[in-house]
Amino acid sequence: MRTQAGRWQRARPDRTRRVRVRRGRVRRHGPRPLVRVASALLAGLWAAALLAAADAQANGFASLEGHGGPVMAVDISEDGARALTGSFDNSVGLWDAERAAPIRWLDGHEAAVKAVRFIDARRAVSGGDDMTARIWDLETGEALHVLEGHTGVVEAVAVSPDRRLVATASRDRRVGLWDVESGAHLGWLEGHGGPVNDVAFADGLIFTAAADGTIRSWDPATRQMKRIMLRHGFGVTAVLVDPARGWLVYGAQDGGTRVIDLATDALLADLTADRRPVLALAESPDAGQLAIGDGQGHIMVVNTADWSVVSDFRAALRGPIWALAWDGAGTRLLAGGIADSAHFWPVGAKAAGPLMDARNRPFLRDPATMSNGERQFQRKCSICHALTEDGVRRAGPSLAGIFGRKAGTWPGYVYSDAVARSSIVWSEETIDALFAIGPEHYIPGTKMPAQRITDPQDRADLIAFLRDNS
Ligand code: HEC
Repeated sequence: MRTQAGRWQRARPDRTRRVRVRRGRVRRHGPRPLVRVASALLAGLWAAALLAAADAQANGFASLEGHGGPVMAVDISEDGARALTGSFDNSVGLWDAERAAPIRWLDGHEAAVKAVRFIDARRAVSGGDDMTARIWDLETGEALHVLEGHTGVVEAVAVSPDRRLVATASRDRRVGLWDVESGAHLGWLEGHGGPVNDVAFADGLIFTAAADGTIRSWDPATRQMKRIMLRHGFGVTAVLVDPARGWLVYGAQDGGTRVIDLATDALLADLTADRRPVLALAESPDAGQLAIGDGQGHIMVVNTADWSVVSDFRAALRGPIWALAWDGAGTRLLAGGIADSAHFWPVGAKAAGPLMDARNRPFLRDPATMSNGERQFQRKCSICHALTEDGVRRAGPSLAGIFGRKAGTWPGYVYSDAVARSSIVWSEETIDALFAIGPEHYIPGTKMPAQRITDPQDRADLIAFLRDNS
């Protein structure tokens, strides 16, 4: 594998010139005096936002604000003090879990982040749509290793109990094994007949769950499959193994949620509800409670002593619960979904909590209320691009003042080498060409995803909208 240290060094933003603005959003700028005055003012706003967060915290609810895209992965450190989030905005957030405040952003992934895990107090691993996983130094925010070799999206990551190995589950039907210290690739677990959705270490083995409907166990040393533990009629989306309790829990595409005895494969409990798919499973630190998140925005919490339902609530107004994690005390759940923030819920609270709300996401607005150009933008661009300098983190640079702008010059945005080196100046003609033939052909090597807008009228309407609104 290549560590890409050089590339990372170049791409790394200068941390001394970073300033936080508004509720955890981070913007970078030059050290101009005027900006320093502005940043002092913004620090006041920041403090006010923290107070508001502390207020909400009093009843146990809190949200982690600052991402500019849906939150697809969450984790909480073993001591419960810190949280990790992975987002569609390409970044990983490291948070103070108590104060619900961001500590630092880990930038480097070139597409959505799908999986995050703490390795130990100092390091974490993430994986995502750019088909890589990254091992991060949480103190400096630098990538220690870029784990390359997958030919499909990385859907899940797991860390061995001795913290020496990382496993990456991918849509390329393989699981990669990597050495944490050196970042070296140790080999592949191969044999699944479909994308691998989840992976877990337990009992000296690796467990994998895949779209082929099977759960398999593997020997990490030989990388050979031990056995097919289970054949479920539908794709298995999540797996959780607790060797101390001797059980394996899995969730599936059809909503199937079952607890299996690790030794005998006997069915211990069937928790299947009429919701699908199951997307997230999390066990509380004392193993006393199990949380299940589904595609319809519910979280169900089950008491593992008798498998009774402790609470069952809608956590997102719309869209799925992609990720769940328990806090250190086992009293709060952290969840990620289609909203730009991850939310903490006190488990068993009497009052209903605030729902994760994505109503004002522009791409969910009623298309009938928009011109064709705006519709094109909202549907095809807005999830990655702002039209103003709003400081919200998104996967792509702001398009504010795009006409006449030289490619690769939005301050503080980390471009691909291809765009950074390009001599293109954005105009009606160049933006038209970008989507007539597709970014991957217009600027080979760009990290903007392949997409074409084939209808010339749609392109003209989009460009007219950009003219009026950027
Ligand atoms: C999934 C995310 C995503 C979507 C959707 C997307 N872009 Fe991008 N876009 C990016 C990224 C990432 C870059 C930076 C590319 C690079 O550095 O290689 C970019 C770069 C650009 C640039 C060059 C900006 C500069 O500063 O040089 C333009 C122009 C642009 N996009 C326009 C659009 C338009 C218009 C749409 C909708 C039709 C769109 N993009 C859709 C992610 C996206």
